[in-house]
Amino acid sequence: MEKRIISTELMEEDYSIEAGLRPVTLADYIGQEKVKKNLKIYIEAAKNRGEALDHCLFYGPPGLGKTTLAGIIANEMGVHLKVTSGPAIEKPGDMAAILNNLQEGDLLFVDEIHRLNRQVEEVLYPAMEDFAIDIMIGKGSSARSIRLDLPKFTLVGATTRAGLLTAPLRDRFGVICKMDFYTEQELKTIIKRSAGVLNVEIDDEGAAEMARRSRGTPRLANRLLKRVRDFAQVQYDGRINYEVAKASLDRMDVDKLGLDRSDRLLLMTIIDKFSGGPVGLDTLAAAIGEDAGTIEDVYEPYLIQNGLINRTPKGRVATDSCYLHFGIRR
Ligand code: ADE
Repeated sequence: MEKRIISTELMEEDYSIEAGLRPVTLADYIGQEKVKKNLKIYIEAAKNRGEALDHCLFYGPPGLGKTTLAGIIANEMGVHLKVTSGPAIEKPGDMAAILNNLQEGDLLFVDEIHRLNRQVEEVLYPAMEDFAIDIMIGKGSSARSIRLDLPKFTLVGATTRAGLLTAPLRDRFGVICKMDFYTEQELKTIIKRSAGVLNVEIDDEGAAEMARRSRGTPRLANRLLKRVRDFAQVQYDGRINYEVAKASLDRMDVDKLGLDRSDRLLLMTIIDKFSGGPVGLDTLAAAIGEDAGTIEDVYEPYLIQNGLINRTPKGRVATDSCYLHFGIRR
């Protein structure tokens, strides 16, 4: 499978840290059962008809395998994968050039697709719908537009903010899939698989402890695994068991729920500075020196899913479970 990375700005993490740990077939992909089952059907049907797969949109918190799935689809369909991202494409002409260079059936993956600017996005409308782009030639009264046919391709978009996608773009996706956090059992299986790839021994209890502290996120699980492997190698006998996992994760300041320093700062700020809330997102963002969008996309989904904070019309509120987690009385 040829991989051409158009944007060098692209999630370095995704392509280096995780490279090698990513499954390349649907059969090897763990979790997201519903998404996987449906995709399997869509892929088989498209292949049987000899057509490109319909355009797909994956949305959900970062690190849950959206990019991995795009790679798997390309592999299963037997087509080239071209990768780029919303902020990397500045001008409509850049998008037109990328589309024009695609071959029949190719898969174009656009990460952070909600960050495409409006003019660039407009190039995508006829491209997705009619496999064509309209190019303006000349200026002023002699300006005219010519239509350039494109090969049938599949656009796979990924976003952490489905709500920020414009309706015309969202409506052009034939397949829309929501990515969920992974269960501990799924993460345990992923960690064991990755340990196998990295050639490090890990027992059931070690993998379970790592899974509990991975925030429901394979990318984090794999990152932690690499660091725990370092501790195991230098301070123990190279194998990961419960004790090694626990001691290493404690040293990395990853707590029992997988919360790291940034998560704890956010929660403790609500508790300490705002008496448990409600506090508005922007106020909270200013208080911890973090971008409001990052709080919403990266930190909050897991904290909300785990009942540590609530979003209310008046702002964010720390829950009883949150106080309990920190051993603080209300
Ligand atoms: N590595 C990262 N995500 C994975 C997944 N969902 N299944 C298997 N291995 C993975």
